[in-house]
Amino acid sequence: MPQASSPRPLLPLAAVIVTSLALAGGCRSASSLSVAAAPAPRTVPAHHVVPLPSSITPSAGPPVTFVAASRIVLAAGDPELDGVARLLAAALTPATGYAWPVVASTSAGAVPGAAPDITLALDAAVPGGRDAYRLDTTATGVRIVAATPEGVFRGTQTLRQLLPPAIHASAVQPGPWRVAPVSVTDAPRYQWRGAMLDVARHFFGPSQVKRYIDLLAFYKFNVLHLHLSDDQGWRIEILSWPRLATWGGSSSVKGDGSGFFTQAEYRDIVAYASARFITVIPEIDMPGHTNAALASYPELNCNDVAPPLYTGIEVGFSSLCVGREVTYRFVDDVVRELAALTPGPYIHIGGDEVKKLTAAEYAGFIERAQEIVARHGKRAIGWDEIAHARLAPTTVVQQWRVGKNGVADAGAAAVSAVAQGARLVMSPASKVYLDMKYTPSTVLGLNWAGYVELRDTYAWDPGALIPGVTDEHVLGVEAPLWTETIVTMSDLEVMVLPRLLAVADLGWTAQASREWNAFTARVAMHGLRWDAMGVSYYRSPQVEWMTVAPTLPRE
Ligand code: ACM
Repeated sequence: MPQASSPRPLLPLAAVIVTSLALAGGCRSASSLSVAAAPAPRTVPAHHVVPLPSSITPSAGPPVTFVAASRIVLAAGDPELDGVARLLAAALTPATGYAWPVVASTSAGAVPGAAPDITLALDAAVPGGRDAYRLDTTATGVRIVAATPEGVFRGTQTLRQLLPPAIHASAVQPGPWRVAPVSVTDAPRYQWRGAMLDVARHFFGPSQVKRYIDLLAFYKFNVLHLHLSDDQGWRIEILSWPRLATWGGSSSVKGDGSGFFTQAEYRDIVAYASARFITVIPEIDMPGHTNAALASYPELNCNDVAPPLYTGIEVGFSSLCVGREVTYRFVDDVVRELAALTPGPYIHIGGDEVKKLTAAEYAGFIERAQEIVARHGKRAIGWDEIAHARLAPTTVVQQWRVGKNGVADAGAAAVSAVAQGARLVMSPASKVYLDMKYTPSTVLGLNWAGYVELRDTYAWDPGALIPGVTDEHVLGVEAPLWTETIVTMSDLEVMVLPRLLAVADLGWTAQASREWNAFTARVAMHGLRWDAMGVSYYRSPQVEWMTVAPTLPRE
């Protein structure tokens, strides 16, 4: 039974609902064949929150049932919480059909007791950092309190997950909108909980990126890394080098589609993410993975000849001409414009898979690129190969070459990075590359790092993967989605779900509290949530997906 081996209290046995596959529907004939063939009873935990909170325990008192008169109350009328409150109202209104007015507790409209409310409050005494929060059901509804608006926002995502899956529907549902009595204390393990989207191989436009941001926010991610350039496409308008977008953005893998973000569109994405406490990290991959730039400007090529646009999926064949000063003017202009679009602290300089340069040429380029990033007031991050250059103390290294991809140098790069004082973001391909096929029969994706089922993504410790790298060297985890084979939003969703939930738990939940069976029991309900959201996903056979949501007892 999953709960028995979980070190983190879920709910006591009495509160656990036991059902069976037959009762859940779909397996009735199979279970009636013989007693021996009957499926084992399935234990349904009484909450399904992902990522697992630090502590979530049942509390005394009746469930909270929201009604049409329920409101979102800002304790002390705190204007800093207005944005969080309005996002919560927007999330709850379509399915409930309720107005969810946002009111200040000091205003005349906020007399307690009329109906269960959601109260949002700031309290500097809440421990655990800027993402930490407490959530409690009370006699007057649900109260979420944190030291920062960010913490309150994370708490509102937990609240959404405590409501029935129908809450995510885009049209009014019957309800009831009930939350079991509960007390949650929560704070994350890591400060970097990221996802990367490759918009270069195939372009994903602003509305698609926002849809992905919604999903990331729901699972308490706080970093969206956008891979904005590669051999097959350049996806961000650079005013000082306009052909990067207009020509370099006109291709993609197999030539299906084209596109780039205007700077206005990009700023809008950054603002949308920021309202959800997600930092956008722009990546310009260099000096390799640069065919789209080389095709746009002949002077970036050592022979002054622009190559044709590229629509294949090979890697390692392109490089900026690192011996030319124009290359560094180009890098400086691009980084300057990107830095002006980026409120966050990081610019990603790529640095992976360069096969055309000597080690000295490569290191020299990375060192200059780092200096340029610093000159524009940002910190550099790069793929783990950059650890072979001299790193600035603030540079972050993104580990990707670990596991089955057979690169002996991978661990050495990480050890070199930490020896230089760099911190690591862990993205081992054989575990968290969400473009890897789940199994040999997965239609989409690649398999160069192996097949990556849900359990492969879940069952490892970012702080103990590489000998010589310990948890204090690790800033967090990030799950890349490369898009050589990923064309539509539905493709994207099928590859990230359910593995994104394993990454959410890796980034948020203390290692001692992570347990595979308890995790899959919680994931089991999220299929119903995605059905209600209209989001696609892979029905991994490693999860006993629920077909009906458990009902809470009436008060
Ligand atoms: C990478 O997958 N080339 C970072």
